[in-house]
Amino acid sequence: MFLVLSVLFTSFPLPCLPDPISVQPVSQDKPLAHQPFSLQCVGSQNSASILWLKNGLPVAVSGRVSLSPNNITVSFSPLLQSDGGLYQCIVSQGGAPIKGFGYQLNVNYGPVQAVIIQSGKGPVGKALYLLPGSKTALQCSALCYPTCTYIWIYKGRLAEMNTFSLTPETTMDRGPLSCVAYNSVTNDNSTVNTSVVLLDGPSNVTISGPGALEVGVKASFKCIAQCSPSCSYTWSVYGRTMHGSVVDSTVTWPLSLSAARHTTQSPGRQPQPMRHSVSQVWSNYYDPSI
Ligand SMILES: *[C@@H]1O[C@H](CO)[C@@H](O)[C@H](O)[C@H]1NC(C)=O
Ligand SMILES: *[C@@H]1O[C@H](CO)[C@@H](O)[C@H](O)[C@H]1NC(C)=O
Ligand SMILES: *[C@@H]1O[C@H](CO)[C@@H](O)[C@H](O)[C@H]1NC(C)=O
Ligand SMILES: *[C@@H]1O[C@H](CO)[C@@H](O)[C@H](O)[C@H]1NC(C)=O
Repeated sequence: MFLVLSVLFTSFPLPCLPDPISVQPVSQDKPLAHQPFSLQCVGSQNSASILWLKNGLPVAVSGRVSLSPNNITVSFSPLLQSDGGLYQCIVSQGGAPIKGFGYQLNVNYGPVQAVIIQSGKGPVGKALYLLPGSKTALQCSALCYPTCTYIWIYKGRLAEMNTFSLTPETTMDRGPLSCVAYNSVTNDNSTVNTSVVLLDGPSNVTISGPGALEVGVKASFKCIAQCSPSCSYTWSVYGRTMHGSVVDSTVTWPLSLSAARHTTQSPGRQPQPMRHSVSQVWSNYYDPSI
């Protein structure tokens, strides 16, 4: 008896049980930023009134985000990264409104805003200044969904890794460095370039000027040194500081001059005194690489 009843119930489902209501993508294509995309409310009847929610709030309709006349589909043209969220439809068809199963929309996008970050220092610019022999760790980062993979190209050689380390030894190690961020879903990539430059100098500092100085007569001095990146020059004349590679001065005795390389990445070092060929003129320079 019990068995027969059970079979009867299975064969004749209750007619008033509604179909489950849910949000589903209209097509099988993955949601890509900058492409059209549509969601539909599945399981409602034709006469139903439908309300769309995104993250619990009514969907804001605009020129880009539109509803079909019966509200069954919501279309994004194009889809943007900001459209990501939980979408639900609320269906009213006679009885109490029914909130359907939601759909989590994850927009595939990027890579955008790719940057190379120097460990402990921050984003790298057009040039990456490094001290010879110092180990530097670099990270590549871009905004992507899903997560990007990264490829490094240093002086034409390829390396597939997130963190790239280099220890430049000589000026031979300078050269272009690129990171390529790649998103396998959007099939898009973004390249960020920098140039490895070795900090060097100042070396070969020379001061040129008159071979002899006459007290009370104006004389012009020029300082030249080899630096990477370029040197800046500071002169100290009777305790007065002057800038630029050339100074004019009316001298008395003795005269002190100094040149320094100036970069934001150079730690300060002890000045190295250097005697110039013009007697009576002394120069000092700061060499951050010593
Ligand atoms: C469609 O949705 C809008 C708001 O999103 C609502 O004002 C309107 O009544 C809905 N129409 C139907 C037929 O459900
Ligand atoms: C990056 O994208 C360009 C253009 O789509 C393609 O030619 C190139 O091969 C890609 N590079 C990498 C490393 O995937
Ligand atoms: C980076 O360098 C590569 C080759 O050196 C070049 O094709 C690309 O346009 C550069 N990208 C940027 C953003 O400068
Ligand atoms: C130093 O500079 C002078 C003049 O600019 C140049 O002739 C000389 O070769 C340089 N010496 C070195 C070691 O670079």
